[in-house]
Amino acid sequence: MSMAFRCFLMVVIMGILGCNQSVSEAASRQAVSSEGLVFDPIELDMGEVLEGEQAKAVLLIRNNSKGFIQIAKVESSCGCTTAEPETHLLASGQFTPLHITVDTFGKLGNVRKSITLTDGKGKMIKAWLSLHVKHNPHVMGEGKRSIFDGKCASCHFEPAQGKTTGKAVYDAVCMMCHGENGTGGYAPSIRGKYEEDAFKQLVANGTGTSHMPGFAKKNKGPLSQMQIDALARWMLSLDNSI
Ligand code: HEC
Ligand code: HEC
Repeated sequence: MSMAFRCFLMVVIMGILGCNQSVSEAASRQAVSSEGLVFDPIELDMGEVLEGEQAKAVLLIRNNSKGFIQIAKVESSCGCTTAEPETHLLASGQFTPLHITVDTFGKLGNVRKSITLTDGKGKMIKAWLSLHVKHNPHVMGEGKRSIFDGKCASCHFEPAQGKTTGKAVYDAVCMMCHGENGTGGYAPSIRGKYEEDAFKQLVANGTGTSHMPGFAKKNKGPLSQMQIDALARWMLSLDNSI
């Protein structure tokens, strides 16, 4: 490509930047356009992963301010994602790698996760990860892991404890996958599709995949029969004309 043509392209793309800057300089300028901590990049495609595998990636966190900044908190939307910065205190202009691991167990298809960083003054920034999880027959057959076990239980099992109304049970352990009032999200819509008994069967025993395990106590799930009954009554009482 001729120099003149590159300049022309860059002027078109960047608008105001001079021709003596490299494209990567220009790109990193854009990434650090705000004061404080910044993610680089703020949107990361982690590619294709087989279900059950750990997807790993590294983002950079940069201190784009004049003083020191402390990384006070790193949070991810689902507990299946961990993010660890190498250092928590950054001098002006300094950056640190953030090591990310996504446990893809129980996931399928396109998954999007966010990571939120809070600095010492309470200011938050967010980055997005996307990955495509492919079917893995090995994981299906194994049946040893479950979203109800170990470190997954605090969000996928325990919140059901003590809930008595159908809506409370739903909001505690179903909504995260099936969306508000069953209208669909990561998992399909479950509105207006079932007779009461069929619905209870599916909830209690699951669909036979690790994506939708049986929620009944007898299947090592969190729900009592009373909770499943209440859930079914509530779900089937909703207006299904939407
Ligand atoms: C801190 C609470 C928390 C923990 C711990 C947790 N999850 Fe989740 N999980 C969520 C939330 C909230 C969602 C809804 C999607 C989101 O916000 O990321 C979710 C969604 C999911 C989904 C649906 C697909 C998706 O990613 O959106 C799967 C599968 C899943 N979790 C599996 C797991 C597994 C396996 C573990 C244990 C390794 C686990 N979760 C631990 C909160 C948690
Ligand atoms: C970790 C995510 C996750 C959670 C939590 C979850 N489900 Fe599911 N569910 C799925 C997925 C994914 C499917 C469809 C794929 C499959 O069956 O494997 C599904 C399927 C279903 C189906 C059958 C749908 C069909 O197409 O026939 C019903 C009914 C259902 N879920 C109800 C519930 C209820 C009620 C709860 C709460 C007690 C719940 N699910 C919690 C992920 C989840």
